[in-house]
Amino acid sequence: MAWRHHLLGLTTVGLLASALWAQRDPPADEVLIRSADLPPDAVWLESLDLRLMSCDWQTPQAGKSVEGNPLKLHGVTYPHGVGSHARSEFNIDLKGAATRFLAMVGVDDEKQGQGSVVFRVWVDGKVVIETGTLRGGDEPKLISLDLTGAKRLGLVIDDADQSIDSDHGDWAGALIKLVAGTELRPVAIRGPVEPPVPVEPPIEMWSVTQTPPAPAIHGPRVTGATPGRPFLFRIPATGEAPLTFAAEGLPPGLRLDSATGVISGALAAEGTTDVMLTVRGPKGASSRKLTIIGGQHKLCQTPPLGWNSWNVFAGAIDEVKVRATAEAMVSSGLAAHGYVYVNIDDHWEAGRDAAGRIQTDPAKFPNMLALCDYVHSLGLKIGIYSSPGPTTCGGRTASWQHELLDAQQYAAWGFDYLKYDWCSYGDVVRDEPDGLPKLQKPYRVMREALDQVDRDIVFSFCQYGMGEVWKWGAELGGNCWRTTGDITDTWDSMSRIGFAQDGHEQYAGPGHWNDPDMLVVGKVGWGRPRANRMTPNEQVTHITLWVLQAAPLLLGCDLTQLDEFTLNLMCNDEVLDVHQDPLGKAAGRKARDGQQEIWARALSDGTLAVGLFNRGRDAADVTVKWADVGLAGEQPVRDLWARKDVGRHADGYTGRVPAHGARLIKVGAAR
Ligand code: GLA
Repeated sequence: MAWRHHLLGLTTVGLLASALWAQRDPPADEVLIRSADLPPDAVWLESLDLRLMSCDWQTPQAGKSVEGNPLKLHGVTYPHGVGSHARSEFNIDLKGAATRFLAMVGVDDEKQGQGSVVFRVWVDGKVVIETGTLRGGDEPKLISLDLTGAKRLGLVIDDADQSIDSDHGDWAGALIKLVAGTELRPVAIRGPVEPPVPVEPPIEMWSVTQTPPAPAIHGPRVTGATPGRPFLFRIPATGEAPLTFAAEGLPPGLRLDSATGVISGALAAEGTTDVMLTVRGPKGASSRKLTIIGGQHKLCQTPPLGWNSWNVFAGAIDEVKVRATAEAMVSSGLAAHGYVYVNIDDHWEAGRDAAGRIQTDPAKFPNMLALCDYVHSLGLKIGIYSSPGPTTCGGRTASWQHELLDAQQYAAWGFDYLKYDWCSYGDVVRDEPDGLPKLQKPYRVMREALDQVDRDIVFSFCQYGMGEVWKWGAELGGNCWRTTGDITDTWDSMSRIGFAQDGHEQYAGPGHWNDPDMLVVGKVGWGRPRANRMTPNEQVTHITLWVLQAAPLLLGCDLTQLDEFTLNLMCNDEVLDVHQDPLGKAAGRKARDGQQEIWARALSDGTLAVGLFNRGRDAADVTVKWADVGLAGEQPVRDLWARKDVGRHADGYTGRVPAHGARLIKVGAAR
């Protein structure tokens, strides 16, 4: 292989990038990074604490590829370096002692031509090197970066195209040269490499304070239930009080409370019925069709809207908080816009009785039956959590070998939703061969158990996407399935998860949805509620992505302390109508240009919902070309966050998008 041209094509940004551009024969730097021996006054990157290097698949490996093979780029094996996987970040405090960073970077040969990554090197809060897309099989690139006087070094391997599949990035031969004779040594530090973007005002957004006094119906346009099982549907409606409700053509077995708008009873038979709902108030009346589908496994015709306790309360959840949350879901107006599930996560469980029945923690949940009744009395639904192993992720009693008993107990209490984790299951099946049957078994077992009880319970898999669950979650009777690990309220976490969902959209549809985890807007904190760590525009990106992807919108914040921004984000009915669209087509990525992305989904009225995203650190004009989203000719465009028509546009639409922000538009004339 030629000792040349690796440096060509590297983009440098900023003054510190005095990389060596000239072609050399052979470059001294390459001799160093291919060597087995450490030069004087230098440290191998792999000698730093790699536990602090993030990695979205497996863990970073010292001196090896992420899969544990010798580090190999374009046929050359490197005795030293670090193998990682996009997205990967490593933050290093140089202690002012570094003079140069050297590495050969690319996608490891173990992927045999697959994978595509971008390497970025940050120095003191600025990107100084960006490699551009490097695909499997491409020539690797040499990084030789002057670090004189630099304090912090940040090493990032980012996903380039599509998903992070096969993105095995190597920092091959990576070393940091030091000032001659220094005793100081660089150390790995915690925290994201990328500093937070400055907080800018959010994009123009319609405000809940603008809710018109005239009545209007929101939420799902289609819902399903099993005949003979308890049915509950609260008609979400806004408008000046008092509101009264009517329903024309309700199927046999159902009745409407005209004062509360709650439809209850039990469907008498299978089949599809179109019901005309009407809401009346002092300022007028409004009607909207609701399709009710009776049949087995017809739940979640649209993705769930609600709340889950984990991201705000974690182990500190108790009945008092659940009641307060349910009340706040109604009093805040969330329920009027369609939010309905109040879901208890982990930490309600406390052992089993002599008959094997699961017990609640008496100090926290003294009376689960009464709690479920109370939540139902508000027209809302209630969810619970368990795991297929002996213990939950929080170390509490889980469903191992008690699945049917547990399902019966959930039904007897009156639960409507089960989030079913994976924790501790791996321990009890350690000796079973790895593969899909092993991954699927606990979900099959619980599905069978749920089918045996006399209550409709939404089944949510929480196994982090193992075995590409999106490909088989629906077949196993899952109503939604987590596609990722746990989210947190940082741009890094949320955007990494949200933008990695491309390709999963083909597996979502009415009754079965991808779940990139619960929402991290508003006050979250896993037991210590606090202000959100994302900027308003980052939160707009979060909700825009989840809405387009038809992911469950389960708020993870304290509903008793909702601020106006969060309400505006969650209660925009035009945005929620995209989320709840009965066609149930989830969005995928349609175009990508550097830090800008276009995602789109088709809607049942023949229009298209399009997200314009700016992952960059500066405001930018983002353009959707009609050709990229399958459209041609002049199209009317409506800005859904602002709820304003923004004209007719011939070839595409360009919107100004703040740093880390998004816009959501609806394109085309409704049928
Ligand atoms: C896992 C899940 C979280 C939460 C906790 C509870 O980490 O991914 O969403 O349910 O378990 O312990």
